[in-house]
Amino acid sequence: MADTKISDSVIYIGADDHDIDLFESQYVVPNGVSYNSYVIIDEKIAVMDTADPRVTDVWFDNLEKALGGRKPDYLVVQHMEPDHAGNIKKLAEKYPEMKIVGNAKTFPMMKQFFTIDGLDDRSVVVKEGDTLSLGNHTLQFVMAPMVHWPEVMVTYEQSEKLLFSADGFGKFGALDVEEDWACEARRYYFNIVGKYGAQVQALLKKASALDIKMILPLHGPILKEDLGYYLGLYNTWSSYQPESKGVFVAYASIHGNTAKAAEKLGEMLKEKGAEKVVISDLSRSDMAENIEDAFRYDRIVLMASSYDGGVFPVMEDFLMHLKSKNYQNRKIGLVENGSWAPTAARVMKGYVENFKNVTIAEPVVTIRSTLNEASEKALGELAEVMAKGE
Ligand code: FEO
Repeated sequence: MADTKISDSVIYIGADDHDIDLFESQYVVPNGVSYNSYVIIDEKIAVMDTADPRVTDVWFDNLEKALGGRKPDYLVVQHMEPDHAGNIKKLAEKYPEMKIVGNAKTFPMMKQFFTIDGLDDRSVVVKEGDTLSLGNHTLQFVMAPMVHWPEVMVTYEQSEKLLFSADGFGKFGALDVEEDWACEARRYYFNIVGKYGAQVQALLKKASALDIKMILPLHGPILKEDLGYYLGLYNTWSSYQPESKGVFVAYASIHGNTAKAAEKLGEMLKEKGAEKVVISDLSRSDMAENIEDAFRYDRIVLMASSYDGGVFPVMEDFLMHLKSKNYQNRKIGLVENGSWAPTAARVMKGYVENFKNVTIAEPVVTIRSTLNEASEKALGELAEVMAKGE
């Protein structure tokens, strides 16, 4: 667990979860995940979001310790997704005097999840730029719709210059595990918020007008130093620009022959000077990591077997994910394999042509069962084109 004392007035009351099998029922989290929550102690006390029902007991224990016998005056609800909102009803019932702070989109959603007696009389509805004084601390609310749900807002605390950033700047990984920030933050970003780059850009623009000393997200570590690094990565990611030069080779192989061709292409790319080559077997790797790598590098080669008059399903699944995350701005190579009627390239092209601002590299390579002289030559030509960035 994190150092609970963030400042003299701000206390971390969140909890780690190492037992969850899949976060949001789809993401593997080998190092767990944290559900962050904070309390600001002043003349008035504000609780900044609750936590997932999976950690209810720990969260309430942490809250009570932080309160030291006092009662919270406000619960600020920045995001209604259950990993943060799951304990709103319990908290509201425990402290019936507590006001609940949200925006116009928060409360209709809250009523969908919970029936809370007298909610309307306890609601404080805030809008962009509104402030709430706790005494020495002043909360300033900044709307952040679609980062990651429509009701999301972030909160800037003016006296200590803290940005409570909701899911923004979050990452997979519990706080009691030390690991590189960018790897799991990037996987989190592209899979969870990736579709909403324009909305993240809008939030970054608002954040640039604030003097921020610390970022306090709802998952992952509190960011205290070198904030330009994190803000810079978020700017790159949300503008759909590649972060690294290199080629991501994603393949879908039934019996291993497309896999062999992928290895061959990898060698060719390296020989021809590609800065970095990353090869992934879509059937046996984490889809979320593949999405992350697709966005990370400036070039991608999609290699797939034909199947049932279309493409091997795991490739179609990958392409559907890329489509839903607004994949764009990349150079894309296509390689299909087919033993009697190759159809994979047609299907892959159908997806790729609809991505924004992509270049499909020539030639599109067709392999008939295994590489032969002609298909290896074509693969070499594709490697020549893909080895170089724009
Ligand atoms: Fe961590 Fe969108 O909830």
